[in-house]
Amino acid sequence: MHLDMRPVRTAYIEAALPQGKNMADQIRLDRFLADAGIGSRAEVKKLIRSGRVFVNTERAKQPEQKVSPDQDEILVDQAPVRPSVSQTLMLNKPAGVISATKDAHEKTVLDLIQEPYASKLHPVGRLDKDTEGLLLLTEDGALSHALLSPKKHVVKTYFAVVSGAPDQEIIRGFRDGIGIGEKKKTLPARLVFLSAADCAMTADGEGTVCTAITADSENTACTAAAADAENSVSGHVEITGLGSISPDDLARCKEGECCAVVSISEGKFHQIKRMFGAFGRQVLFLKRLSMGAVALDPCLKPGQYRPLTEEERKLLTDAPHAVHEEGPCQ
Ligand code: URA
Repeated sequence: MHLDMRPVRTAYIEAALPQGKNMADQIRLDRFLADAGIGSRAEVKKLIRSGRVFVNTERAKQPEQKVSPDQDEILVDQAPVRPSVSQTLMLNKPAGVISATKDAHEKTVLDLIQEPYASKLHPVGRLDKDTEGLLLLTEDGALSHALLSPKKHVVKTYFAVVSGAPDQEIIRGFRDGIGIGEKKKTLPARLVFLSAADCAMTADGEGTVCTAITADSENTACTAAAADAENSVSGHVEITGLGSISPDDLARCKEGECCAVVSISEGKFHQIKRMFGAFGRQVLFLKRLSMGAVALDPCLKPGQYRPLTEEERKLLTDAPHAVHEEGPCQ
């Protein structure tokens, strides 16, 4: 089973570390130098072995030596090397733009990004032109790889409006894997339908119980708390274990349609649409809510973006398999 839905808890990471030292901030010396643009990994290894690199006052000998870029001074030929601050942005992708850096005919997600953010950014994966929601844009190739590699199984969670009524057979199909015309069936995915009537109630902003229809039971009550004080700016509804959904999005679900929250741990072309399509259903609206432990900031309107916080960056690099736990706007 690849779908690890455990919520992330950062406290345990901190607690396991020696006092005053954050091991998560330590990286190999050769990696630090390569990331800072001093040379390729092979070139900086040679540089270190030739004795031209110092960490504080000590001459470095081993490329694998660990350094803390925040605390250690690293010098090459006596000149200090600055850590590269590679920028990663969180964009609330609007419908109608494509997930590419440049295109002769279509507006791309990078056309939405203003200076001073570097043009070196690239989208971390793709959302379809009509899909909205969380899209990371980064300069950091290693981060993209860590999040997108098919071997990594990073969980992505989406809110969907789907034609037809909730159906247990579809939930079980998602759980067990579906043939969508690829060599292998899809990996286990979590599908929770939300009852349209109850969602309409939550859209009024009242704290209520939303009926979630899961594989194990027809009507599991899952708490949909009204937005808390901090979140009230956005008026979003936090549905326990599922994420933060805006009242406007919940209200998209009309008669003869249903709302769903879907988590998948792979990223095949049009995957969610094809999975519902296998049951004769059409996805009428799709929005990504989270990727790994990082969720779309509910304060970002479609087309808006902001840099990741330090904590979000750490969650992506240190715990890419963790699953988002709800939190307020940043
Ligand atoms: N699945 C889809 O069908 N489309 C997306 O954009 C993302 C996941």
